[in-house]
Amino acid sequence: MKLHHVIEAQQFNLPMLHDLFDSAAEMERVVAAGGTQEFQKRIMAALFYEPSTRTRFSFETAMHRLGGRVISTENAAEFSSVAKGETLEDTVQILNGYADVIVIRHHEVGAAKRAAAVSQAPVINAGDGAGQHPTQALLDLYTIRKEISSIDGLKIAMVGDLAQGRTVRSLAYLLSKYQDIKIYFVAPALLKMKEDILEHLREHHVAYQEDTDLDSVLPLVDVVYQTRIQKERFGDRIADYEKCRGVYVINRHALETMKPKSIVMHPLPRLDEISMEVDRDPRAAYFRQAQNGLYVRMALLSMVFS
Ligand code: CP
Repeated sequence: MKLHHVIEAQQFNLPMLHDLFDSAAEMERVVAAGGTQEFQKRIMAALFYEPSTRTRFSFETAMHRLGGRVISTENAAEFSSVAKGETLEDTVQILNGYADVIVIRHHEVGAAKRAAAVSQAPVINAGDGAGQHPTQALLDLYTIRKEISSIDGLKIAMVGDLAQGRTVRSLAYLLSKYQDIKIYFVAPALLKMKEDILEHLREHHVAYQEDTDLDSVLPLVDVVYQTRIQKERFGDRIADYEKCRGVYVINRHALETMKPKSIVMHPLPRLDEISMEVDRDPRAAYFRQAQNGLYVRMALLSMVFS
């Protein structure tokens, strides 16, 4: 499969997803064997305007494991000429002269699409504000496939900051491509899943249910996809943030309520919405999920370069 820009989850179809997951499984073997030099002439630019641990480090590691090289800024707003007023479009056109692929994280919805519009080099969206995080959703799906074996028939609870969470938006788009999915959206009233996603699910005949009571949903699902209440997206609405934080916590009690074969996922970082006592339970899949990000991003880069 050949890829160019990776901007939104909707651009992937089932054959593309199957190819990508097969390639990611192969990348697990490549990493175990110490990596490859296949893409040693390629350079990746990592242009991050928002903080990141997993996405930036896993993309950079992916590039190194593929034999390529990386140019990077971890805080483009401060350490690039954006601080002098340069536009995103100009920055991206300049990077076209240096790099073979541009991985961008930005605080504005639609920023990756704007970057792609002026870029000959492939642009990969590593998160655009409260818009989308397609590579996260791809690694989430890869994780579900590995842990639960089948995605068709999945029952999943998405929990927490659904209104401002880009990972759950992208994951809902991807899940709508599979059969017999049921999504439980569990969120405080202020952070309900946005109508554009609900409309997309209705159009694609995906069953969903909105709920505020996590305890009643936990025994029903195969995956609990917990998310952080994102303080940084509330601006000066501190009172709203305080109302929403701490409402849903996955702890020992929650584990007792969940199915024995279910899993807990989280895009991370977490604050207190998953207690550390959960980490020891085999159903805690979030660190394995983050590891899968390396393999899926290696597969994506390799498809972009092929
Ligand atoms: N899941 C995720 O995007 O994590 P980072 O913000 O650390 O990249």
